[in-house]
Amino acid sequence: MSLREKRSQETKRGVLVTQATRIKITDVSKIYETGTKKVEAVKNFSESVRDGEFVCIVGASGCGKTTLLWCLSGLHPATSGTVHIDGELLTKPLPDRIGMVFQDSNLLPWRTLIENIELPFQIKKKPVNRELIEELLEVAGLKGFENSYPGELSGGMKQRGSIVRALAQDPEVLLMDEPFGALDAFTREEMNLFLLKVWERTKKTIVFVTHSISEAIFLADRVWVMSPRPGRLSRIVDVDFARPRHIDLQFEPDFIEILKSIREEVEGSKIGKGK
Ligand SMILES: Nc1ncnc2c1ncn2[C@@H]1O[C@H](COP(=O)(O)OP(=O)(O)O)[C@@H](O)[C@H]1O
Ligand SMILES: [Mg+2]
Repeated sequence: MSLREKRSQETKRGVLVTQATRIKITDVSKIYETGTKKVEAVKNFSESVRDGEFVCIVGASGCGKTTLLWCLSGLHPATSGTVHIDGELLTKPLPDRIGMVFQDSNLLPWRTLIENIELPFQIKKKPVNRELIEELLEVAGLKGFENSYPGELSGGMKQRGSIVRALAQDPEVLLMDEPFGALDAFTREEMNLFLLKVWERTKKTIVFVTHSISEAIFLADRVWVMSPRPGRLSRIVDVDFARPRHIDLQFEPDFIEILKSIREEVEGSKIGKGK
């Protein structure tokens, strides 16, 4: 589908969500076996992500969020169940189609920012997409820092750099695991706004793991709430706030109401009160 066709499907929220399924997760379970110990990390997880959708996954620490994300990446296969990307069974990593961003920017300290961004092209032996990189650097506010080393950049800039590096590969899907978890609150807000700006421009399908419920609600079209380990999908929350979203949204009564209800679910289940 062309970008224009996608645009024509814009909803009144201004969100480019089409109905096509991008990721289909069917009955995924993951058991880690280390020596005699067995850890059931994810159990019978089924759900789909639509093309261009922004899904956030929240849940208590250790509930299996990271494990599920790795199953979606094709890097660590599920013990049972399947993941389909665009109808195709995922059996291996797809570095051209699935990008990943972690809490640590993982920029190589001995390479400049631009050398870090270009590295995946060199590894894949494909021509550098300079036009896209220029555009992404502009949105990321990193113009002028191309030749800086990671040690010369702030935490937020490094993380924006790692997002630019992932998006420069023009993947269809971006998987993000607590990418802003190590940043201070103000930087994190800036990063949330930056990410939404990039997403609204590029229309990638994003699955974003966070332990911050307010971050999840602020960013997402839908929030998936996971139960404590073994992680199951305990609830799906539709987030219908208009876009583009303003940072003050987090003080709106409707926002706080959703926040409280998800928090009760995550915390309640943690201390054995919940479902
Ligand atoms: N490689 C591994 N080997 C054994 N157990 C693991 C491994 N990775 C994660 N686990 C366990 O699986 C559970 C889920 O972990 P994880 O997916 O990292 O949770 P979350 O990201 O929600 O904090 C935890 O109990 C964790 O200790
Ligand atoms: Mg994790």
